[in-house]
Amino acid sequence: MNATTIPTDVELLEKAREAAHHAWAPYSSFPVGAAILLDDGRVITGSNVENASSPLGICAERNAAAHMITSGEATADDGHLPNLPVIRAVAIVGLKAEPCYPCGACRQVLREFNCERVIVSVDGAPRSFDFSEILPYSFGPEAL
Ligand code: THU
Repeated sequence: MNATTIPTDVELLEKAREAAHHAWAPYSSFPVGAAILLDDGRVITGSNVENASSPLGICAERNAAAHMITSGEATADDGHLPNLPVIRAVAIVGLKAEPCYPCGACRQVLREFNCERVIVSVDGAPRSFDFSEILPYSFGPEAL
């Protein structure tokens, strides 16, 4: 998506749903998609990618966060003190479950990148949570 307009929560959920259709989830049959909204309106997506060696599967939100970083959103200063990107929001859709809330591991990974809001679908409509509700009293990079 171009950086010209800020997508609505409904549009972010739609992007997450599209991403869920690209999941590799043959073992759980539980496809999930995540759509990260950046400061300038760009949207970066991810889906869950499972593996025959089950512990190697990765959730949609963590794949989206990795996609964000590998797209160049954090500029490293000597590899030690990167300027952290700000995730304005992340929308999450599970094709088999509504709402689909982020797992604990994904909450912590989103916390790393200053995620401000989490959007899920409840009865077909977006429901937005402040990140501090999703992961209160959290541990983050500023503690180190
Ligand atoms: N899953 C996600 O992608 N995100 C979550 O936050 C919850 C769980 C995936 C992991 C696994 O591939 C499948 O859903 C069933 O747990």
